[in-house]
Amino acid sequence: MAADDQVTRKLSNGAEIPVMGLGVWQVDDGSECERAVATALEGGYRLIDTAQAYGNEASVGRAIRSSGIPREEIFLTTKFYPGNRDARVEAEKSLERLGTEYVDLYLIHWPQGGPTWAWPGMEAAVEAGLTKGIGISNFGATELQELLKVSQIQPAVNQIQFSPFEYRRALVEACEDAGVVAQAYSPLGTGRHLDDPVVGRIAAATGRTPAQVLIRWALQKGLSVIPKSTHKARIDENFAVFDFTLDDDAMTSLDALDTTTQTPDALAKRQKWWS
Ligand code: A2P
Repeated sequence: MAADDQVTRKLSNGAEIPVMGLGVWQVDDGSECERAVATALEGGYRLIDTAQAYGNEASVGRAIRSSGIPREEIFLTTKFYPGNRDARVEAEKSLERLGTEYVDLYLIHWPQGGPTWAWPGMEAAVEAGLTKGIGISNFGATELQELLKVSQIQPAVNQIQFSPFEYRRALVEACEDAGVVAQAYSPLGTGRHLDDPVVGRIAAATGRTPAQVLIRWALQKGLSVIPKSTHKARIDENFAVFDFTLDDDAMTSLDALDTTTQTPDALAKRQKWWS
């Protein structure tokens, strides 16, 4: 393991979140999802990230229960689908589907209808013991600031689209300044960034794979990272990122791939699927 590595990061609620996890966006409900989660847990992952909108909470829950790993050793995240109105009520339904007493983290999936309206329901979910922590996803710096003005409980995490090509430096800094841990989804650009020649060159020079280089870059930026895969070899490969470091030259070359002008926004306007 590299000397400066933290395998977990401390959240504002006092909990520790693993820096590496499995994301199950676009993983079909049923055996595919169950197998991916089981494989990840066997391979040492202890962070699993799902969402109400993914439709696969029941499979995630089954895989966790049949893993034999004590529930308290696993960090489980799900997300409130903001097309619904009451985050606390929806958390109860998530727990039923997941077959667990609590989640470790419950995020507003995106700031549809504004950044603040759902937060009282999120806080109520904490007070009811349904989740240990609450946070946000796809919130830009301005939305984060608006939420901080009204929140009784601080958001613990902001989960954002993040990779060298989507290097939202100003947003990451705004999260850090607010004591919010930033977490990277689509760290591989949903697979698109794996064929990039700069990434390939750095991978060849370090004796690593493109996926490991992209994940390692995000870890060295201080984020928690949740790549998705349904294949055992890749799930294992993505987790094998704690025994090497990208040097300054490699980090600088990867930083230069940014196409977002280091934006404080969570997504480009054209990418937003909500209003
Ligand atoms: P698969 O699930 O078939 O393994 P992201 O995490 O950015 O959303 O990227 C996920 C995509 O990248 C999926 O299509 C996944 O495919 C693929 N992927 C994940 N890990 C690797 C890897 N180590 N090597 C190649 N492709 C990968």
